Amino acid sequence: PGHGHGPARGLSFQPIAPVAADVDALTVPRGWTWRPVIRWGDPLSTRAPEFDPEHQSERAQMQQFGYNCDYLDIIETPGTHGRRALAVVNHEYTNENIMFPPSEDADTLEEYKRIAMAAHGLSVVELRRSGPGRPWSYVRGSRYNRRIHLKTRFAVDGPAAGHPLLRTREDHLGRTILGTQNNCSGGTTPWGTVLSGEENFNQYFVADDTPENRRYGIPSTEGGRAWWTVEPRFDARRPGYENEVNRFGWVVEVDPEDPDSTPVKHTAMGRFKHESANIRLARDGRAVAYSGDDERFDYLYKFVSTRRMVRGSSRWAKAQNKRLLSSGDLYVARFSGDSPPAEIDGTGALPSDGRFDGTGEWVPLVEDGCSRVPGMSVAEVLVFTRLAADRVGATKMDRPEDVQPNPVTGRVYAALTNNTNRGVAGYPGVDEANPRVTNREGHVLELTEYHNDAGATRFAWTLLLVCGDPSSAGTYFGGYEGPVSPISCPDNVAFDSTGALWIATDGQPGTLGLDDALHRVTLTGRERGKVEQFLAVPREAETCGPVVHDRDGSGSVFVAVQHPGEDGSWADQHSFFPDYAAPGTLSRGRWGGPRPSVVQVYRR
Ligand code: FEO
Ligand code: CA
Ligand code: CA
Ligand code: CA
Repeated sequence: PGHGHGPARGLSFQPIAPVAADVDALTVPRGWTWRPVIRWGDPLSTRAPEFDPEHQSERAQMQQFGYNCDYLDIIETPGTHGRRALAVVNHEYTNENIMFPPSEDADTLEEYKRIAMAAHGLSVVELRRSGPGRPWSYVRGSRYNRRIHLKTRFAVDGPAAGHPLLRTREDHLGRTILGTQNNCSGGTTPWGTVLSGEENFNQYFVADDTPENRRYGIPSTEGGRAWWTVEPRFDARRPGYENEVNRFGWVVEVDPEDPDSTPVKHTAMGRFKHESANIRLARDGRAVAYSGDDERFDYLYKFVSTRRMVRGSSRWAKAQNKRLLSSGDLYVARFSGDSPPAEIDGTGALPSDGRFDGTGEWVPLVEDGCSRVPGMSVAEVLVFTRLAADRVGATKMDRPEDVQPNPVTGRVYAALTNNTNRGVAGYPGVDEANPRVTNREGHVLELTEYHNDAGATRFAWTLLLVCGDPSSAGTYFGGYEGPVSPISCPDNVAFDSTGALWIATDGQPGTLGLDDALHRVTLTGRERGKVEQFLAVPREAETCGPVVHDRDGSGSVFVAVQHPGEDGSWADQHSFFPDYAAPGTLSRGRWGGPRPSVVQVYRR
């Protein structure tokens, strides 16, 4: 949905030169311009207070656009001739150091925590414009506008719903959870809902030191965000709250077209640090969701629904399809290389067959309603999915970020963002799918399901990119010999209508000394592997979203600019994006400090 109309077109643009990491600008190609669609603090309802960083409150933030936008989709409303759309945006986390004036006052600090909680979650926002290719504006007061945050009620479904592992003092039935947090990337389903991954949920808790909590990185000593001082449930050491940690780390499904709907946490898709979930239909119509667990040496997963998608746009069809992710099989990936292990020397030098490639299998964790992991029940596999995957010998990957099927070819692309511990003493060594020691720059894996059927249990794979500066040894660009843009730390991916791959980065300042970027990568023909930089985000920001509507007028590209100026402080802001008002001032709604924002890039 949302990718415009007419024949596949692609975008023509002059690639930009890489931008140094201290530049606080959104840099776009010649002939293009940009404009914010919505910014942190923009009021969503008519009664919401205007953004005023000096006078924030929890109540205001609950009615305003949240912080640190990550996943983004712009879903055009059918029958409106490209004049209306819904934007769905994740708010992953908060940067208190640049959001709030410093304070020593206990009540003020407590209110800061409550504001930060209210700035997490998701936003659904209606957009309008005069016609295709024109810039979107958000509609304040639209009945579709919605903030989902830590006070929003979620239903739990799937095989682990109601299980004792999900019950707490406040939810004896284990079927209702307040809130979602650290929503990183996501995916829009073919039936029009949005999936969102709860990623680094561990950092909000303190809990007993159990093998399960340890495997999920949940601290057993106090520190970090310490949210339990305002909400006791985040101290999972307290009697009755031990299972609160098990109620985060899920894929959630939100129906943006129904502002009164209850969002759902799908236990059938497993619990881990979900980066996202992206769907392709199997040959027989079952919904297949790919999802990565973003941690060093963690895994790539796939969920296959039991039932088939119902075609059509009727309400009945949608209601049926909203139950698809409630029941199905869960698999984890095991990769095999086809080159002798001795030829994978850790430098990124290609083996003698000229490729990092091989075959693989989807190893079942839950299949046909039964656990395939010895010694673990279905509910245990779903709640402690990492431990289940450890037992079946899945392949430990270099931090799987987005894993997304190409809607044109069906091939699946996984961004493996980096892993500085790969091959370091005490950690797993290289393998053909993760071939570099101390992998700072990351790589991109291309996976082709057997018979190109998303329901298959075997696949072939090859590394499309081994990232870095092209002049550095141990980089690889799909075999393309011409000039390419430097690229490092691939994170979110998207596709245009021709099936070209777009990659957003998170970490280029640290590895290349460059602002993070959005790149296009050609996948087919003689230019396969050609990387062209489309934009750079401002200082200390990460590029998120991205959404490419190449058939929208003369083309629009949307990005979510996350954590601009994150290393600054209230008194010494490092970024002034996107308002670029005088430092520290607020005038006519424009602030002299950074505001994470959704941006539209379009032709001038
Ligand atoms: Fe939130 Fe995996 O990035
Ligand atoms: Ca090989
Ligand atoms: Ca990410
Ligand atoms: Ca990231």
